[in-house]
Amino acid sequence: MSVITVTPNAALDVTYFVRGFRAGGVYRALSVAKKAGGKGLNVARAVRTLGGDPLATGFAGGLTGERILEDLSREGIRARFVRTAGESRCTITVVDEETGLVTEIREAGEAVSEEELAEFSRLFWEICRSASGSEAPLGRSTFACSWADICCSEVSESDTRSQPRSCGTGRCGAEERLRRLPGPMGESPDPAALPRCDGLESAQWCEPPGRDSSCATGRPDQDRTEIRFGEPSQVDAQAGRPVVVFSGSLRPGMAPDFYAKLIELAKGWGFLTILDTSGDALKSGVAAGPFLVKPNLTEARELVGMERGTPGEGEETFLARAAAAMASRIASHGPKVVVLSMGKHGAVMHHQGRTWSGRVRIDDVRNPVGSGDSMVGGMAWALARGQDIIEAFKLGVACGAANALTATAGEFRMEDVRALLDRVEVRPYEPCKP
Ligand SMILES: Nc1ncnc2c1ncn2[C@@H]1O[C@H](COP(=O)(O)OP(=O)(O)OP(=O)(O)O)[C@@H](O)[C@H]1O
Ligand SMILES: [Mg+2]
Repeated sequence: MSVITVTPNAALDVTYFVRGFRAGGVYRALSVAKKAGGKGLNVARAVRTLGGDPLATGFAGGLTGERILEDLSREGIRARFVRTAGESRCTITVVDEETGLVTEIREAGEAVSEEELAEFSRLFWEICRSASGSEAPLGRSTFACSWADICCSEVSESDTRSQPRSCGTGRCGAEERLRRLPGPMGESPDPAALPRCDGLESAQWCEPPGRDSSCATGRPDQDRTEIRFGEPSQVDAQAGRPVVVFSGSLRPGMAPDFYAKLIELAKGWGFLTILDTSGDALKSGVAAGPFLVKPNLTEARELVGMERGTPGEGEETFLARAAAAMASRIASHGPKVVVLSMGKHGAVMHHQGRTWSGRVRIDDVRNPVGSGDSMVGGMAWALARGQDIIEAFKLGVACGAANALTATAGEFRMEDVRALLDRVEVRPYEPCKP
C-alpha cells in the first residue's frame, strides 16, 4: 500500500564536510553532497530505500525547485508538486569531520500565493482520490465533504462521478462553504469551523462507516525477546490503508492550521496520518487527531512543557521519565500514537495508555541529521503494509539509527537497517535505574 508524503517547504540540502570548523573561519570543503531534501522528501526516500513506492507532493519553485524534482525523478520517487513562483529554499549543513559536530543553517523559504495554495488543495484531493480507489471520501467528516464539494466543482464540473456521496448535499452551497472554510481556500483561520477531532472518540467519528476504527494495539505484555520484525500482525486493522505523512516547516504566509486541515481531509478518506513538524503547525495539527505524531524532545517541550528533574536523578532516567510523561500528555490532545524521539537515547512510544521505550546503540555516528525523518519513513512504510504499531516502532528506531551511520542527512543503507533490527530493544517502559 502507498505512502504519500506532503512537503510544503521542499529544499535543496547542501552538506559540506570540513575539518576543524569554527565560526568566522574560511574552510575548504573536503567533500560536498547536494540533494533534494526537506523532511517529507527524506521520508519518501526512506520508504523507497525500504522497497516501497512513495508519492511525494508539496510545493517546488524556481531553479532550486527544478533541481529538487530532477533529483526525485533520478531516485525513482514519484512526485506531484505545485510549481510556485517563489524559489524553493536551500538548507546548509556543515559536518566537522574532526569533532563530529554538525552545524545547520535553514532558510525559511519564499511565500506561496493564494492561487498556489488553492491549486495544492485540488491536487491533494486528486491524490487522495486515486490512492483510495474511490471517488469520494467514505468518512463523515463535514470538513472533508465541504472540501469535496469545492474541489469537485472546481476540478471537473462535468464529471458526475466526482459527486461526493457522504454528505448528501451534493454541490449545493459549495460557495457558501468555501467562504466559511478556514485556511488556504477560505478567508481566515477559524478553529471553531473545524470539526472537533480530539482523541479516539472523534477519531472514530471520522472513520469510514463499517470499518473497524480500533488501533493496532501492539502486544504490551510481551517482552522484547518475543517481538520480531516481520511476524504476521496480530492486530492489523490498519492493513492496506494508505499512510499520509505531513512533514517539516510550512512556507511563510501559510496558515498554521494547514496540516490540521489536510489531516482532517486524509482521515475522511480513511487514511492513516502521521505528523512531524514543530511550533504552531504541530500544535494545531495535533488537535486534528492524526494517527501518529513524532516530535523530538525540543518539539515536545514546546508543545506541552518539560518536566523538572529530580535531585540525584541521572540524565538517562530523567529523559526517559520526562519523555514518557510528555508523550502521554501529547496523546491526550488527539493523536492515537505519540513517538517521542530522543536522538542517541532512543525513543518512547505512547499508545492507548501504555508506553514503550525503544533504542539501539551504535558506534561510528557520522551524521544524525534526518534520523527523525528516516524513523518516520520506517514507521509509515510498516504501517502501510499492515504491520502493527510495535513492529512499526521497531523499524522506525532501526531506520533512525541507520541514518546516523551515514554521512548525508536523510539517507540510510538497507544492510544497516537489517543488522540493527536484530538489536533494537523495544520494551514496555520502566524508568531506568539511576
Ligand atoms: N546516535 C544515535 N544512536 C542511536 N539511535 C539514534 C541516534 N540518533 C538517532 N537515533 C534514532 O533515530 C530516532 C530519531 O532521531 P532524533 O530524535 O534525532 O530525530 P529528530 O530530532 O527528529 O531528527 P531530524 O529532525 O533531524 O530528522 C531516535 O529516536 C533514535 O531511535
Ligand atoms: Mg525531526
